[in-house]
Parts: sequence; C-alpha cells; structure tokens
Amino acid sequence: MKVMKMMKKAAALFLTVGMVVSLAACGGSNSTSSQPAENKEETTETGSTAGAAESAAGIDKIVFGTNAEFPPFEFISSTGGAIGEFDGIDMAIAKQIGDDLGAEVSINNIEFDSLLIALQNGQIDAIIAGMTITEERKESVDFTMPYYNATQVMIIKEGTEIAKAADMEGKNIAVIQGYTGETCVKELGFEYVSFKKGPDAIMDLINGKSDVVVIDSATAQKYVNDNKDANLVIVEDNDQFASEEYGIAVKKGNTELLNALNAEIEKMVGDGTIANLADQYAVAAEE
Ligand code: ARG
Repeated sequence: MKVMKMMKKAAALFLTVGMVVSLAACGGSNSTSSQPAENKEETTETGSTAGAAESAAGIDKIVFGTNAEFPPFEFISSTGGAIGEFDGIDMAIAKQIGDDLGAEVSINNIEFDSLLIALQNGQIDAIIAGMTITEERKESVDFTMPYYNATQVMIIKEGTEIAKAADMEGKNIAVIQGYTGETCVKELGFEYVSFKKGPDAIMDLINGKSDVVVIDSATAQKYVNDNKDANLVIVEDNDQFASEEYGIAVKKGNTELLNALNAEIEKMVGDGTIANLADQYAVAAEE
C-alpha cells in the first residue's frame, strides 16, 4: 500500500506545448455520465449581465461554469474567494485569465453533470472544473491544453484491506456521479454507489457504510487532511488508474476563446503560476 506522497507529485505539470496526451481516464473509456439533469444552478455572477457573450472586438466577458464542490480546485468560501464567494485553484486561474485579457469574468455554479450541456447551450462560455480531458467529452466540447495532472486514487479507512484497485471487488465502493472515478470503477466491472457530492461519499466512508471512495488525487488528499480523526488513507494504483489531465472546455468551434485560453494556460504553466496556486491551495499533509 502506497500512501500518496502529496500534491507536488500529483501536481506534476505539463510544460511541453503540443505534447500528445493520453486521454483515457482509466485505460480506455466508454459511455457513462451526463444525464443532463434539470439545469438547477445557483447562478452567481460577479458582473451585472447574465448569459454568455463576447464582443466582436475581442473577449471582454467570460462566463465560466464550474461545480464548486471540488476542493482544492473550486469551493465556496464563506470569507470570500478569488471570484466572489468562489475560491480554489481553478477560480484563481479564472480570475487571472480575466485580469490578463481585460475581460469581465463570472462564475456560474452548476451540477457537474450539467456542465457540458450548459456549454453546448451557450449558458456558459467555458468550463473550469478540474475537468479531465477525455475522448468522450471531446466529442461534445473542445479542450485547452492540460493545466494540471491528476489520477484517481482510493480513500480507505486505515486497516481496510485494499492495496490495489482489484481489491475493491466485493467491497462497498463509493464514487461521485459523473466524475471520471465513476467511469473507472464501472470499467473495472465492480458495483458501486454514486453520490451527488464528494463530502457525502466521505461521510459514508467515515460512517463505515462505504469501504472505499474513488476520487481525484488532490481532492482526496484534501478530504483526508480535513478529517484527521477518521484515520483515512490514500491508496494508489498507477497500473489501474492512468494519469488524467485537467483542461478548460469551450464550445466546439469557439477557436477565438480557445486560443486565448491556451495562451493563458501556456503562460501560467510556464511561469509557475499554476504550480504556485496548487501549493497555495493544497493543505500540506503532516508527515
Ligand atoms: N476530474 C474529474 C472529472 O473530470 C472530477 C471533476 C470534478 N469537478 C468538480 N468541479 N466537481 O470527472
């Protein structure tokens, strides 16, 4: 059992532009996710005008869609965050993009499952949500170059006998609805329960109903750190869970925005901005 060595490793960033990336979440993805649900979003605009629009003279407004239930990438901060009440690595990136482009940036907080549809509908201009670039998603949206590297991991209570993905067989497995972790577990052929939100799955684990939660590495680390008393540990299986890359999604064919975002990401990866944000928002594990 390998206890994860922390953000630094998970945050290995891509510095090579135009690098060919492997896009399957767990080694070949099919189907899953995205029942468009009802668009039950709480819209919080920092600006005044709603809706997605940009001027002919350039990009002066970007409505980002996210699902602010994914720390350290996006969460709601009662004390205020990078954009309004929204804080996290992605939110700081979005703010920086707005500052650099001189564009007004607002956040539309919607269910993760509804983000792709919202983008296709034009309700939002871009998705920044720790969203893994997958072949399946690329059929409906365009992604920027990757800005963050992650992998699925398993969170267990210390002592649970799970040392690799195959050990989950017959265990009570929890995933989050529509996340790549769900796809991975589905591909393994195991039964699982899918929860609406990460914290719900973690609660189920802490209460002893679930034996394991499969979720993205940095978010897993955050939950482990935030629940010290529960003695949760992270188990990796790099053979089973391939590396995933987060990208920002835009509507298919929106090359103007895509190019602008790619230039921004290239800059922020290159000059260490994103690595710094990852450090800043990650709560270091005690070792
Ligand atoms: N990386 C995973 C995926 O793309 C989980 C992302 C969840 N993000 C969120 N903001 N809730 O499916």
